[in-house]
Amino acid sequence: MLDALKDELLSQVNAAADLSALDEVRVSALGKKGRITGFMKELGNLTPDERKERGQALNALKDEIAAAIDARKADLAAAHLKARLEAERVDVTLPVRPETEGRIHPISQTMDEMIAIFAEMGFSVAEGPDIEDDFHNFTALNFPPGHPARDMHDTFYLPDAGDKKMLLRTHTSPVQVRTMLNNKPPIRIIAPGRTYRSDYDMTHTPMFHQIEGLVIDEATNMGHLKGCLVEFCRAFFDVDDLPLRFRPSFFPFTEPSAEVDIGCSRKGGELKLGNYGDWLEILGCGMVHPNVLEACGIDSTRYQGFAFGMGVERVAMLKYGIPDLRTFFEADLRWLKHYGFAALDIPNIAHGLTR
Ligand code: DAH
Repeated sequence: MLDALKDELLSQVNAAADLSALDEVRVSALGKKGRITGFMKELGNLTPDERKERGQALNALKDEIAAAIDARKADLAAAHLKARLEAERVDVTLPVRPETEGRIHPISQTMDEMIAIFAEMGFSVAEGPDIEDDFHNFTALNFPPGHPARDMHDTFYLPDAGDKKMLLRTHTSPVQVRTMLNNKPPIRIIAPGRTYRSDYDMTHTPMFHQIEGLVIDEATNMGHLKGCLVEFCRAFFDVDDLPLRFRPSFFPFTEPSAEVDIGCSRKGGELKLGNYGDWLEILGCGMVHPNVLEACGIDSTRYQGFAFGMGVERVAMLKYGIPDLRTFFEADLRWLKHYGFAALDIPNIAHGLTR
């Protein structure tokens, strides 16, 4: 009789199609009200000899069914895992789906391109805080107190908090100061970042981006400055014979100072970069003023070098034909879709910087 029960239960175990069906079989055989449990309860009615024999047989049956359930459980779990792995299979060798929605903002892309070029020339990237003090943003850069150049910066001042006058940095030049105060020459850094001025029209937004460059050692001269910027502009705009014009200018923190124009044509309302006889200003630069070196603890009789500063939006607009500066910060997804860059299209010199 127990043999018949065993065959019946084993076939139920093997027929269980999933874990919950298997558990039903387990409860019906081994649960509190299960069939084997029922027989166990009846053992008390038997004579001691009968009880011994029957008890052993029931225990053996119980163990065999329990083992069969465990084995079936393992099979079902393995089959379940296999089915799930099949269903969730991912081919990691597939190219990115063309419908990928995210885009890299042109500012991020342009900064990455600039960093890639300067990194190739041996510059490293330095950073400083957006909230600066008057010393780093102006005084150490040779803007004397009350100097009219301070007013030209349309500075956002923060409410007075203690002895230091705090402000939103109006340019990335304070990173020059921080770098020179904390490092000994030779120095060769670029500093990309956000800058702020209280101004808003077609060509100005209250927050914008600059990239600053600084090279300090014992021998660097204006010729190196020129070579560096010519090389950068030709690589960045991808025009091999792009002409550059260095025009004398004034900045408190450089002497001599220059503004740099690149060659272009504006014929027919279209802007083209190259040797066409017209000029467009793109950056400021010069030899670091001895007063700045001294304010930063660098011996100006031994060390010298150059600096430059460039507007990131401005060169991005030129390179990618974006007409209105304000659109950069409107967070319009249609604009980003049009002017943005694919997420995996990371700029580097070897693969080219343009799409
Ligand atoms: N800081 C200047 C500005 O925002 C740009 C600049 C000009 C930076 C000349 C320089 C430099 O480092 O040498 O207008």
